[in-house]
Amino acid sequence: MIKLTEDERRALIDLANEARRRAYVPYSNYQVGAALRTRSGRIFTGCNVENAAYPTSICAERVAIYKAVSEGEKEFDVITVVTPNGGTPCGGCRQVMAEFGLDTVVLVANGEGRLVQETTVAGLLPGAFTPKDMKR
Ligand code: THU
Repeated sequence: MIKLTEDERRALIDLANEARRRAYVPYSNYQVGAALRTRSGRIFTGCNVENAAYPTSICAERVAIYKAVSEGEKEFDVITVVTPNGGTPCGGCRQVMAEFGLDTVVLVANGEGRLVQETTVAGLLPGAFTPKDMKR
């Protein structure tokens, strides 16, 4: 688990908050932004993208993670999530995070950019089912 400086936290929260403004949320009006930093130092952002067929909507965290994986990155240092009220990642996103590492740091901030929680994927999803559980 990596240790972040105050400047790194600030920069990631600002990027996630900027991505949040691009959220497509005509149904919930709940804008979420994410900023994911890979071990190699690249940053991928994401926002939630909703759909008239509600279940096909996707969360900001998953957009960021899938963007990274589709660009060849699977090792993540930190994922930052900004929600309007400091709401934390949904169960589905916790599971998707767990696929790529339980030690990834998770920062959660609110719409004012204030950090409300700093934890890890393991902290958010104790007892996670992970790729190692697929081994016979
Ligand atoms: N949402 C996210 O994008 N990430 C979260 O951490 C919580 C929920 C989205 C899904 C949906 O578009 C809206 O927020 C309300 O649930």
